[in-house]
Amino acid sequence: MKKILILTGGGDCPGLNAVIRAIVKRADHEGDVEVYGSIEAYNGVLRSPQEIIRLTNKTVAGIHVKGGTIIGTTTKSDPFHYMITKENGEKETIDRSDEMVTMIKDMGFHCVISIGGDGSQRISKALFDKGMPVVGVPKTIDNDLSATDYTFGFQTAVQEATDAVDKLVSTAESHHRVIILEVMGRSAGWIALHSAIAGGAEICLIPEIPYDIEAIKERIESRYKDGRGFVNIVIAEGAKPKDGTITARESDEAGYQNLRLGGVAFQLTQQLKEVGCKADIREMVLGHLQRGGSPNAFDRVLATQYGVKAMEMALAGEFGKMVTFKNNEISSVSLEAATEAYNNVDPRSFLVHAAKGIGISFGD
Ligand code: F6P
Repeated sequence: MKKILILTGGGDCPGLNAVIRAIVKRADHEGDVEVYGSIEAYNGVLRSPQEIIRLTNKTVAGIHVKGGTIIGTTTKSDPFHYMITKENGEKETIDRSDEMVTMIKDMGFHCVISIGGDGSQRISKALFDKGMPVVGVPKTIDNDLSATDYTFGFQTAVQEATDAVDKLVSTAESHHRVIILEVMGRSAGWIALHSAIAGGAEICLIPEIPYDIEAIKERIESRYKDGRGFVNIVIAEGAKPKDGTITARESDEAGYQNLRLGGVAFQLTQQLKEVGCKADIREMVLGHLQRGGSPNAFDRVLATQYGVKAMEMALAGEFGKMVTFKNNEISSVSLEAATEAYNNVDPRSFLVHAAKGIGISFGD
């Protein structure tokens, strides 16, 4: 009998449940494999009492259409920086990585399947280096993992953002306004780029192409020449002006290591006003609507393939690797290769060229 432990780490993402379901269903074919889920990533193992649940065909029936993850997730589950509360109430982080590796072995798990983004895969790699058998599955709506062409969840997020652009175009047009839609994308502007093209925005601002505020003002003014213009802008949360910085703040959540992005749409309005842009401007932050809800068909199919492949790799003992979707094929790479570079938008790519070809300005 082989026991496999699965966990979902980092921000949630449409399709997590579809991966879980595929793993469990594939395991069921074997007859001698049991699948367990650790609640809230590695925390379920490290907590006392532990929170580990058995996942069966019955548990996962029909969950592929649901958003979120039935085993919970967290951005605060790094065994190398495990959060504890001291007797005086203060929080501190301690390294429980060795304990983690030992516990997985002692509990008789053959392998851990870790479904997560860049941060989670880095943790998986570090635990693998310490001897823990692990297989990774790439997740994030940002699509910023370079080893794979698509992470599941991305296409669903793009559709959500595109639906928002569609709606904002009609209201911008009715009021002759500039409407700025802020979408997710910390270091990669994929959601912004795809939804700007799909929705027909005039301006798209992404982290990979720092913008010149004067160029944006000019593009806006060119649309208002006859006094009846309107402009839709899609901006990624990680976009920044030339010679400027991203709009972010330190998180006040204990154990949350990332900067909290958000507010760049309001920042852009301010900058436009400062350079004399006279248009009426409204902003909208799409936020976590992009992450919640049911995955679209593409993401369900991709997530299912990832789940089946991950289970087959686990059974075959192909540890220290992450499942990938590259050039239309499901394959795998080492966790080292999976985490060495981000998947950023290439400003010289045909996608950017095509966007420019239909008149979208990147403010460059
Ligand atoms: O990495 C995925 C992502 O959706 C980013 O685009 C965004 O900045 C971040 O997660 C938000 O995370 P949280 O939900 O922890 O605020």
